[in-house]
Amino acid sequence: MISTNYLVIGSGVAGLTFAVKIAQKFPNKTITIVTKGDEEESNTKYAQGGIAVVLNEQKDSFAKHIEDTLIAGDGLCTPEIVAMVVKEGPKRLQELVAWETNFDLDSNGTFDLGKEGGHSEYRVVHYKDITGFELERALLKKVHQLPNITILPHHFAIDLITEHHIENKETDAVSCYGAYILNQCTDKILTIKAQHTLLASGGIGSVYGHTTNPIIATGDGIAMAYRAKAVIKGMEFVQFHPTTMYTPEGGSSFLISEAVRGFGAYLRTKDGHRFMLDYDSRAELASRDIVSQCIDSELKKTGDPFVYLDCTHLDMAAFKKHFPNIYEKCSEEHIQLEKDWIPVVPASHYLCGGIDIDKNGKTSVNNLYACGECSRTGLHGANRLASNSLLEALVYSHNIYLDLCEAPKVNVPENIPPWNDDGTSIPKEHILIQHNLKQLQALMRNYVGIVRNNDRLHMAIKHLNLLYEEVEELYRKSKITTALCELRNMINVAHLIIQQSLNRKENKGGYYNISNIKKASK
Ligand code: FAD
Ligand code: SIN
Repeated sequence: MISTNYLVIGSGVAGLTFAVKIAQKFPNKTITIVTKGDEEESNTKYAQGGIAVVLNEQKDSFAKHIEDTLIAGDGLCTPEIVAMVVKEGPKRLQELVAWETNFDLDSNGTFDLGKEGGHSEYRVVHYKDITGFELERALLKKVHQLPNITILPHHFAIDLITEHHIENKETDAVSCYGAYILNQCTDKILTIKAQHTLLASGGIGSVYGHTTNPIIATGDGIAMAYRAKAVIKGMEFVQFHPTTMYTPEGGSSFLISEAVRGFGAYLRTKDGHRFMLDYDSRAELASRDIVSQCIDSELKKTGDPFVYLDCTHLDMAAFKKHFPNIYEKCSEEHIQLEKDWIPVVPASHYLCGGIDIDKNGKTSVNNLYACGECSRTGLHGANRLASNSLLEALVYSHNIYLDLCEAPKVNVPENIPPWNDDGTSIPKEHILIQHNLKQLQALMRNYVGIVRNNDRLHMAIKHLNLLYEEVEELYRKSKITTALCELRNMINVAHLIIQQSLNRKENKGGYYNISNIKKASK
């Protein structure tokens, strides 16, 4: 049993930023960060394009960034949240600079600003094409300098501790008092008691298998919150990134940043046609929901497995300076950008919905906050504008920190029991877990992809229910393993995506269901 003032689940930009702020404010309080992989492993680490912030007020304005975010979100953003996040951006960026995070500067010593799909101006602050890697480096350095933060890598959060786990405690309101944590090195399960818990557990890309996300993105935080009865919203809005490097085997795929299209690259079919001009006047710089849907339509028309991204006409010296990582990866794959086109295909990238929070990051469960990709704030609506995710995590980790500076003391019950694994045995069924995972991912790709219809969604629910029964049975009988918990969580997340898809009767942003069009035209 460990007791801590603040338990943070996740070590991406959301968890680390919050931890640094609260640790600096309260040197006598303890912050425990648990994270299931190496400490830097996260979606954050792979962010390429950068952070959208209005800095050049001669050319840009808050109003324009707000407008671009609202257009991308297709009428489902919460306007006051959009305004709040956009206006807070410059202050949060200055903090990162003060914490010695590097960003590219131009020859005048001001931020070199990039452009991405859906942005009307150049406003994306970046560090080459490895912004997330640099952010993790700087934040982890800060975390290690603060003695009141303990970071526990390879510690997997299994479930939140709520009244449900405490005998004789009957109440309607649900409160969180920490979490049960699996030490992945020893297989021991710890009880971490906390006055306040922050879920900063990132995205869900692995539910689809073919994704820009690393394999750790299994939606654990959303599933845990769902089981604790927190409100979860907007799960139908899975964002597919238009341009990931095609590989026949799929899986975790290398991203070709939208900033490459911002730099002038063209999308072409195999025979060289620049097809985006047929669909949208913004061509390759339409918002990514539109570009992904157009690529999907071209692939269905031609039967080809990918389209191409053409960089051959670009200034290659400047390209290499901006995108050294992408250039190198292409070279490794024997794609010479001076003369070859990159084969690209959309892949699952980002979840716009998640655990519903208010402007201070509070969930509907007492003492439980959520921040970053696992949360749903109202900023993104039906489709996130590029490079607004890191921004959102920075702004909300600050808001949560401010809220907790004023929070009353929480009395954590004394009688929290240790994890109960009576009647379970070591699972001998690893092969079953792998098999079910593959089935789940294929189901989500084939039935719940970029373009959906109600028949397929209903079929998906039917198949998913069978998987659910099988995995719940295994979970009841088995000693906990990370793979089993992740699979169980992904099934919960898939259920939420499908159910909330069926509930949506109108297509918006990244949600495109053919059945809704048929119904509307009847
Ligand atoms: P993450 O960074 O994903 O961190 C989640 C953490 O939670 C990880 O440490 C993970 O190990 C931990 N965790 C999860 N489950 C558990 C558990 N059960 N127990 C313990 N720990 C757990 N956004 C932008 O704004 N700009 C960009 O340029 C950009 N580029 C991107 C490029 C790629 C390839 C990808 C994948 C995403 C990109 N995004 C970008 C999106 C953005 O990076 C993420 O949305 C953001 O970094 C999420 O931060 P986070 O802290 O919420 O989650
Ligand atoms: C990218 O660089 O294309 C990803 C940006 C984002 O997801 O915001």
